Amino acid sequence: MNLSVKIGNMTFKNPVLLASGCFSKHTLDFTDVSGLGGIITKSVTMKPREGNPPPRIFETPCGVINSIGLANPGIDEFLKDELPCILSSQTRVIASIAGADVDEYVELTRLINQTDVTGIEVNLSCPNVERGGVEFGKDPESVKRIVDSVRNNTSKIIICKLPPLFDNRKIVSAAEQTGADAISLINTIPALAVNFETGKFEIGGKSGGLSGPAIKPIALYCVYNAIKSTNLPVIGVGGIMNARDALEFLLIGAMMVEIGTGVLVDPDIGNKIVKGIEEYFCKEGIKDIAEFQRRSRF
Ligand SMILES: Cc1cc2nc3c(=O)[nH]c(=O)nc-3n(C[C@H](O)[C@H](O)[C@H](O)COP(=O)(O)O)c2cc1C
Repeated sequence: MNLSVKIGNMTFKNPVLLASGCFSKHTLDFTDVSGLGGIITKSVTMKPREGNPPPRIFETPCGVINSIGLANPGIDEFLKDELPCILSSQTRVIASIAGADVDEYVELTRLINQTDVTGIEVNLSCPNVERGGVEFGKDPESVKRIVDSVRNNTSKIIICKLPPLFDNRKIVSAAEQTGADAISLINTIPALAVNFETGKFEIGGKSGGLSGPAIKPIALYCVYNAIKSTNLPVIGVGGIMNARDALEFLLIGAMMVEIGTGVLVDPDIGNKIVKGIEEYFCKEGIKDIAEFQRRSRF
């Protein structure tokens, strides 16, 4: 059986990636990631960011709301401390970048281009301050400008990470026109929780982003729409907690999957999902992902 997949000129040993924000060098103390397709690092910015006020995570019956606010140590510390640890983990590493404007995305790309990462995931769920805080990933022109500039500064693979949009055709084609190698979606969905007893918001920053099992049907919807409107490989993200969830995304045509919240629940979840996919293919006599997808009626 062969679970390998190709994005751009890079081969991944299987389609399972750990999503940005749910993994750090400390996760390596609890799991061996060498059997995964790869890992995506927490989105990094040029300057350190404190992030939003606590509490930053609230558990709902079917997922979590987070309002981390892109807290990260900044690119210098990331390159000096976090990245070398993660690069020693014997799997493909993709660095996620987040910018406040095109220049910041470019500067981050230039610095990361000098490292041994396999690729760059461009987090487009960041607010464009010049345009009233609208996320870059909701505006085709911004997507074109950012991804074009990133492309001009690296030959590594570029994955465009999109926010949840019910009609993502224009955004997906903007990413395709600029030379992205793949599209990943979805990021978290805006959400809010209140404490009935105290009358306060459950999250320090008032609202946050919902992830986990609650968002899987929405993620499947957005991923399916993206697949229908692009020839680029699409990476499915949202609510994947086991091999069956991952196989659902592959069945509708996703090339790979990313696991976020699942890693917070069980740091070893990626290995369990790879094993579950292998067992299923073995039981059904399926030799590779292309054969699995040929069986689908989508
Ligand atoms: C605590 C937390 C932090 C996150 N941080 C980032 C981030 O820095 N960059 C990013 O692109 N996505 C970030 N995400 C979004 C995830 O990568 C993923 O797109 C989303 O959670 C949906 O997948 P899931 O349901 O498997 O968690 C974060 C999610 C969580 C729960």
